[in-house]
This record gives sequence, C-alpha cells and structure tokens, in this order.
Amino acid sequence: MDWGMKNRLAQLIQRDGRAMFLPIDHGYFQGPTTRLEEPGKTIQPLLPYVDAIMLTRGILRSCVDPTNTKPVILRVSGGTSMARKDELSHEGITTSAREVVRLNASAVSMSIFVGSEREHETLLNLSNLVNECEEYDIPVMAVTAVGTELGKRDARYLALASRIAAELGARVVKTYYCGEGFEKVVHGCPVPIVIAGGPKVDSEFEVFSWVYDALQKGAIGVNLGRNVWQHDYPVAMAKAIRAIIHENATPKEAQTVFEETKSGEKKRPAARKAAARRSAQH
Ligand code: R5P
Repeated sequence: MDWGMKNRLAQLIQRDGRAMFLPIDHGYFQGPTTRLEEPGKTIQPLLPYVDAIMLTRGILRSCVDPTNTKPVILRVSGGTSMARKDELSHEGITTSAREVVRLNASAVSMSIFVGSEREHETLLNLSNLVNECEEYDIPVMAVTAVGTELGKRDARYLALASRIAAELGARVVKTYYCGEGFEKVVHGCPVPIVIAGGPKVDSEFEVFSWVYDALQKGAIGVNLGRNVWQHDYPVAMAKAIRAIIHENATPKEAQTVFEETKSGEKKRPAARKAAARRSAQH
C-alpha cells in the first residue's frame, strides 16, 4: 500500500482502529429527507463528534464550508429515485476520480445490490471504480445496499454481499448489523466493516446495543445517519455513539452520556410525517 492510500485510510480509521462516519447522502435518491432538508444545518452541531462525513458532491459544494477539516467520503453512485422504488438498484457511477481529487475527498463510496436484477452492473461499477480510484490511492467504501427489501438483512446475505465487495477491491465495507451471526459477516470479510443504522427506531438504547454488539463482533465502527440526525436530540446521540466506539462505553454507559447531554440540548422541532414515512422505507 502506498503512502497516499495509507494516509487517506488513516484520516478515516482512527489510531484506535475505530471509525465513526456520519452519512448525509440520503437525498441522492430520497430528496429532502426528514431533518436533512438543510444538510449544512443538520451536520453543523454534529461535526465535532464524528470522524468523517459521507455525502454527494452537490451537497458538499453547496452546504459544507470549504474550511471544514473533517474527512469527506464522497458518494459517487446514483441515478435512481424513490419515485421508482422497484428500480433502486439501477445505479451508475456519477462522479469521476478527477472530481474526487478536486474535492479533496478522503474516500469514495458506492452501492452494490447483490441479489437484485442489477447485481451484475453494480458489481462491475464497483470493480471499475476500484480500478480508477486505486490509480490515485483513493479508497473505495462499498455499501451493501438492499433498496426497499429491508428483510434481506440476515447474516447469510450480508456475509455474501460483504465478501464480494472485498473481493472486488473495496477497502472498507459498509453493511447492516444483523444481530445473530454478525460475527460471521465480519469473519468472512477481509477488510474493515462499518455498520449503517437503517430507518430510525424508537429506542436509543437499541441503537447503542447494536453498535456495541457489532464492535464486540469485529466491526470497526459505524456509518450511521438517520438514528443520529433524525433523533430529537442528535448531539446526545452522536456523543453517546462516539463513547461506545472510541471509549469502549457499554450501552448502559452510552445511555448515561445520552441523558447527560440531552439535558443541555434543545429538542429539535417535530418532523413532518409524510417525509418521515418516506425516509423509513429503505
Ligand atoms: C443510504 O441512503 C446511504 O447509503 C446511507 O449512507 C446508509 O444507509 C447509512 O445511513 P443510515 O444509518 O441512515 O441507514
């Protein structure tokens, strides 16, 4: 591995071997997702607690101050929308490596849809992206996406998709936490794994428990969005999850961090119901 690749990975994966990424790329197919209508405002209070942000070039250019020094993971696949839910797997690569370099991104990410009608195209998208990005020492993070088929997220499926992503050259894999059997997903994947959170759940303790268990089973951290920034108390969520990842806090200790932070944080105004329903569908 050359210096550039090592350096970019070191920006993302911290010295303790752990990572906390904040994805705000959801609008690339969902439009103005609940509580992400103004991404710049959403992330502003959260930036101190995360190791990197994941987003598209459009949101980076229009909503993030260029003096931002948090590493950027650029979402470079797309071309679909929630208006055609059955075709969410029909993604292409939307951004060139030249653009990635111009934006000074530390990594790129794209989705693969294993088991979907477009499996083949998305796997070749990954391979071609790796070919292009490795030329510039830019790591590729593969996202094992399931579209609206959330039920697919069991250990067998996630192990298959994660391993294929690593085989094709992804340097990091983002997958889902699945509880039982998650250790097999990690064991079968030779590159670091981070977990997504999926649609927002009602209990923050549940999120802390997923994150904690995923780390015990070998994940290096999270790429977790909606369960942080759709929460009424996003800073408290970010701080609590950070404590699990970087301070080895248990779910109970994280809950204490959450409660302590929450008491000093202003509750976010209520989310619009229709938009919240839309963002819970993948
Ligand atoms: C999908 O929109 C993106 O790939 C997200 O970055 C990913 O799903 C993680 O976000 P969340 O924790 O909200 O599922």
